[in-house]
Amino acid sequence: MTSLPLDILAETPDYALAIEKLHERGFGPGRFARTAFRLREGVRPFADLSFIARVGTLLVGSVRLSPIRIGATPAILLGPLAVEPAFMARGIGTALLERSLAASREGGHRLVLLVGDEEFYARVGFRKVPPGRVLVPGPVDPNRLLICELVADAFEGVSGMASAERR
Ligand SMILES: CC(C)(COP(=O)(O)OP(=O)(O)OC[C@H]1O[C@@H](n2cnc3c(N)ncnc32)[C@H](O)[C@@H]1OP(=O)(O)O)[C@@H](O)C(=O)NCCC(=O)NCCS
Repeated sequence: MTSLPLDILAETPDYALAIEKLHERGFGPGRFARTAFRLREGVRPFADLSFIARVGTLLVGSVRLSPIRIGATPAILLGPLAVEPAFMARGIGTALLERSLAASREGGHRLVLLVGDEEFYARVGFRKVPPGRVLVPGPVDPNRLLICELVADAFEGVSGMASAERR
């Protein structure tokens, strides 16, 4: 756990520009070509499940969650998750993940998909999607396609194409 005076707060429109800059630093211009980006394109993130991390008035991290479907099943796409480089490895990324997953569970959501490093995300309950079970609209390293069940066995019987859920 971090020893910083860290606040995890719901994202509001005031932070949009600072978050965009954080993404630019964390992911570079290639971020718009990523498969996960395509799954979020044109979709408003969940306002009640997306959080920012602040130290004092400084934005140091952000996580956004958006609605998707896997086949016909409603699910959540987690990402981007980004932490300001100078504040990495102090528990901020984990704190953002834990808050957003707890809020998702409280909100009655059942499944969360993401593209990322299993080594990092396994600690909050993600595991690899069995190869071929979830298709995504673009190239992805199958070792990085991860799922988290917020409710026991929520992934049972779920398969198919992941697609953005435009509300
Ligand atoms: C990945 C990221 C969000 C982690 O945030 P963070 O605040 O640094 O993470 P935490 O401090 O909560 O956790 C740090 C731990 O995770 C590990 N970790 C961080 N990134 C990792 C990765 N990509 N793979 C494996 N382990 C990782 C660290 O080694 C550290 O381990 P330790 O606790 O055993 O020392 C942050 O490094 C980041 O913004 N990276 C650039 C953008 C990015 O890659 N986002 C994720 C997209 S999938």
